[in-house]
Amino acid sequence: MKAIAEAPSKAIITGEHFVVHGAWALAAALPLRVRVEVSQAPSLAIRSDRFEGRDSPELRPVSRVVEGMARQFSVTPSVRVSISSEIPEGAGLGSSAATMVAVASAFSRLHSLGLKVDELVRCSMVGERFIHGRPSGIDPTVCAYGGVVLFKRGSKPRRLSMDGTRSLIITYSGEKRSTKGQIGRVSVMRERFPGLFAMLAGAVSELGFTAAEKLRQGDMEGLGRVLAINQAALETIGVSNEAINGIVDLLGSLGCYGAKLTGAGGGGSVVAVAPKAKEKSIVSGLSARGFETFKVKVPTEGVRSWLER
Ligand code: PMV
Repeated sequence: MKAIAEAPSKAIITGEHFVVHGAWALAAALPLRVRVEVSQAPSLAIRSDRFEGRDSPELRPVSRVVEGMARQFSVTPSVRVSISSEIPEGAGLGSSAATMVAVASAFSRLHSLGLKVDELVRCSMVGERFIHGRPSGIDPTVCAYGGVVLFKRGSKPRRLSMDGTRSLIITYSGEKRSTKGQIGRVSVMRERFPGLFAMLAGAVSELGFTAAEKLRQGDMEGLGRVLAINQAALETIGVSNEAINGIVDLLGSLGCYGAKLTGAGGGGSVVAVAPKAKEKSIVSGLSARGFETFKVKVPTEGVRSWLER
């Protein structure tokens, strides 16, 4: 018997970094997925289509999640975990969070723990903390819940109700970066300019609610303006870079309503919105310049798991 779980990737629409320090942020699950299989084994063994061995730095957080859950629920950690992923890694699209959530969900299913979504998030945070040090929890929350989520540290996540789907354009800069390093840069900036940081965090919280409303109404032009304002705040705190700014400008020149970095920045990916009629030509324009870029529809479902013989 094996348990299988699939979890979506994510894009932060507004509020990354500020969310670590208590601001509201808006994030959407994206349809690129990670698939995890968990079955009984003589000892804990982890395989991935990208990394080898449970002691490889990328897979150590997975061991932490399994061992943490085994301890907490008094079940055996001796399982074989197999991971296969469509999510580019280090791209700000939640590859690690989706993996932790899927591992927690499959492990819970195999041992019939019956954990609810918020409990899966809590279990997967053990791995996220191991990677980032001080994660806000937004990534595993949106990967677990799915849909579009307004998130604030310590508050119950608010899932947005939407009729119909909306399109986002995601472009990967090709530059991997360390989320932990980026969070550290922001903390230094916050210590140097506490008043400015607090003011920006307040404004970015407001942007989250405005973005949620624009997205719900399907007002993509309005949402584009919100993205552009949020990008300016992210530049101010020093987490954008030349590659990201170049992509944001390019998206603007191709006719997008607005664009911003998504995730930790310093590389990673850009999220943008555009008039329907231009989406196709924007995606092909960016592909022609060598960027991995795709249009995605939101909302999409969160983690799900099942048993197979
Ligand atoms: O996991 P990433 O690289 O997409 O970034 C997560 C977003 C941050 O706000 C930078 C960190 C966090 O834990 O909220």
